[in-house]
Amino acid sequence: MQVKVINHPLIQHKLTLIRDKNTGPKEFRELLEEVAMLMGYELTRDLPLEEIEIETPVTKCTCKTLSGKKIGIVPILRAGLGMVSGFLRLIPAAKVGHVGVYRDPQTLKPVEYYCKLPTDVAERDFVVIDPMLATGGSSVAAISLLKQKGAKNIKLMCLVAAPEGIHLVNEQHPDVEVYTASVDERLNDHGYIVPGLGDAGDRIFGTK
Ligand code: URA
Repeated sequence: MQVKVINHPLIQHKLTLIRDKNTGPKEFRELLEEVAMLMGYELTRDLPLEEIEIETPVTKCTCKTLSGKKIGIVPILRAGLGMVSGFLRLIPAAKVGHVGVYRDPQTLKPVEYYCKLPTDVAERDFVVIDPMLATGGSSVAAISLLKQKGAKNIKLMCLVAAPEGIHLVNEQHPDVEVYTASVDERLNDHGYIVPGLGDAGDRIFGTK
């Protein structure tokens, strides 16, 4: 199983609060945004730098700056939306695409119902965002869509992952690095991650 678990104490602390069923939507959204920012810090560790000349108030110096790599983030609707603002606080210039995928109740296969991506897909590095990597069907479908449109470098960021979902992504897209704050035990009979945090979309948007 290829997965990077981000064990930072702040992330783990906030994840526990997020998991707690007594945490209401306002706090849930705020915590999710904070965790997305902290996870984004880890995901962007390998961004290339270049050196530029600047002048401080004291002297000229050669300093490092991001080398202009273009980033795109793609939340999977709808729960992925809850992690967008946190990531954008780190990289405000990132373009945001959206992918909507649902599971056909008959075939149980993912069906795309919405896809809007930046026009320059082939020039960007992408982070696909879904707080919950459950069966992995939606993430695999979203990554396949991005690849069809020309994306070459894709990472997957999820708050909580089930082993089943990680296996599927590893199998279908071995080039995609999966980042998570926790690999949970399993999926239950209803497709929920155990112990998980319930339905992420419902908890973000206050629906049932
Ligand atoms: N989606 C969720 O929101 N929660 C789960 O546990 C699994 C999928």
